Parts: sequence; C-alpha cells; structure tokens
Amino acid sequence: LNKKAKLIRLDQWLAKAAGLTRSAAKKVIQQQRVKQLHQDGKLTALMDPKFKIATDATIIFDDKSISIQASRYLLLYKPAGYICSTQDEVYPSALKLVDSIQDKSQLHFAGRLDVDTTGLVLISDDGQWTHRVTSPRKNCTKTYRVSCAQIILSEQIKCLEQGVKLKGDEKTTLPSVVEVLNPKQINLTINEGRYHQVKRMLAAVGNHVEKLHRQQISQLSLAGLNEGEWRHLTAEEVALFD
Ligand code: URA
Repeated sequence: LNKKAKLIRLDQWLAKAAGLTRSAAKKVIQQQRVKQLHQDGKLTALMDPKFKIATDATIIFDDKSISIQASRYLLLYKPAGYICSTQDEVYPSALKLVDSIQDKSQLHFAGRLDVDTTGLVLISDDGQWTHRVTSPRKNCTKTYRVSCAQIILSEQIKCLEQGVKLKGDEKTTLPSVVEVLNPKQINLTINEGRYHQVKRMLAAVGNHVEKLHRQQISQLSLAGLNEGEWRHLTAEEVALFD
C-alpha cells in the first residue's frame, strides 16, 4: 500500500474504475467476474462487495486489467480574464490553462477567484480534498494582496481584523489578519471563502477594492510560477489538507 493509496470497498472500487453503478458493480462481483492480480503474479477471486481493497490495486474484470486513476492536485497562477468554472462562459475557463492534463472531466476548483482577481487557485478531481480546502471549519488561511481606491484608515483595519457584517449576510466575518503594505495596500488573511468576500469586506468598511491578488492558501504560495503557469502539488503539499 503506497502512502497515497486508501482502502475502499470493492464495489465502490469497481464502480469507479469501470464506470459502473454500485449495484451493477455488486452484480458482476457476485457473478465471479472479478479477480485481484497481486504483485507476485497470483490471482485471487473476489466475491465480497464489502471486501476492502487498496485504491492502487490491479483488478482483473472479465479478463481485462483495470485500475483507478490516481487523483490529481494542481496549483495554478490564474491571470485576470479567466473564470474558475469548468465551462467557458463570457470568459474562458481557467481549466484552459492546465494544458497537457488528460481527461479534465472530473477536475474542479477548490474555491473560486473572480474573473478580475489574479493569483493562486487549487484544482483537483478529489472532491473530499477540495471540500476540506474550502470548508471554513478546517481553518485553512487564504492571503490576499488588496489594492484599494482610498487610503485605508486605521479604524477600517481594526474592523477588518475584528470581523465585519457583510451586506446580505447574518453572521459577521471571522477575525482576520491585516498587514499594511502602503496607505492604499494591505495583505489580508482570512479563514473563510464567502462569495466575493474580500471585496465585500472592504465595501463594508467604506472602501473599495481596485485590484485583488491571492498570494497564498495555507502554506502554499505562487513561488516559481509566472502568471498562467501551473504545477502539480507534491504529496506533502496534498497532505497539508488531510
Ligand atoms: N474575495 C473576492 O471578493 N474575490 C475573490 O476573487 C476572492 C476573494
């Protein structure tokens, strides 16, 4: 069992690898059409849908070898003019930028950036992982460089840090961290990812966001990437969100 492999039920495994429904997978298991190929070349019959099997196992189904594709985890430096949606709309999908990746059908964004926002976005086909990245309960920080239209007053900073009530929301935002870069620019670190959160936070204190750039999610940064470039995460980086 390698580090990234997990144990899952055989019927779930087969459904995923062969594109079957769970009940169709159960049926073919009961029909004794499924075997496991072990590393020493031995074959064993698998007849229990509940049997736990490693995600990186090799299964023989009707004499054909099948496997589950390993999940993919990507970090993209999104330029302005692309949307964090899997489909093109008025603007093209940022998935257009992840070239040389095969079968993008299961890929999705772990938290969205607006079309005019630049910076770090995470993309994966592992839905449980992207959920953990975006869930406010996981306390995963996001740091934005915020360029404002007006000078940012110390009163405004205090409000941002303590939490503000956004228009249309009941709950105030969780406490945030503000670092002043210059009179009209701050780094803002938040734990949530509400709709247009940063722009609405600045609006709530009477300012206006002119430019927004996400520098960091948790310990991940854009170091080494130019706008429009992407890379795979390492196993250690993926495990930051376990
Ligand atoms: N907050 C926003 O308002 N926009 C973004 O793109 C990200 C956070």
